Amino acid sequence: MSIYKIYTYPEKILRRKAKEIKNIDGELQAFIDNMYETMHFASGVGLAATQVGKENALFVADVPAEDDKRQILAVINPVIVESEGESAIEEGCLSVPNFRINVNRAARIVIKGYDRNGKDLLLEATGLLATVIQHEMDHLKGITLLDHASLLKRGAYIKSLKKESKPDKD
Ligand code: NI
Repeated sequence: MSIYKIYTYPEKILRRKAKEIKNIDGELQAFIDNMYETMHFASGVGLAATQVGKENALFVADVPAEDDKRQILAVINPVIVESEGESAIEEGCLSVPNFRINVNRAARIVIKGYDRNGKDLLLEATGLLATVIQHEMDHLKGITLLDHASLLKRGAYIKSLKKESKPDKD
């Protein structure tokens, strides 16, 4: 198994749109295993293939649920088939370090796609899992958390990055 490099803003690769996956084979399953490992290594709750520079339409998630349980999933070619309600949970992103904002999302969604074995998957999600899934599906469209931020917050973040990258004077 291996840990991938996670691209961060403003790397243009994050703007790429993912393409539909046609073959669910051993190579893709190995990629999914590495995605899990990369996400866990980075202490993330979700990771989209576009964040590691791949144009595959898939994401993985590992979200804490009630009773210390976890919801662990990999979804291939995800599509939202139902969405309702509103929810705004504070979000962070491995591709936008040191940045958190509340984003308005649907409170309940139903998605369809395929699991790592190529079986049809239909999943209802609410709460944090619904938010994480919508966040990861944004990545597959080339959208990051910063696109949801106000001009002011985005500007401040970009400014902080520029400050960080300036060489020390002493
Ligand atoms: Ni993210």
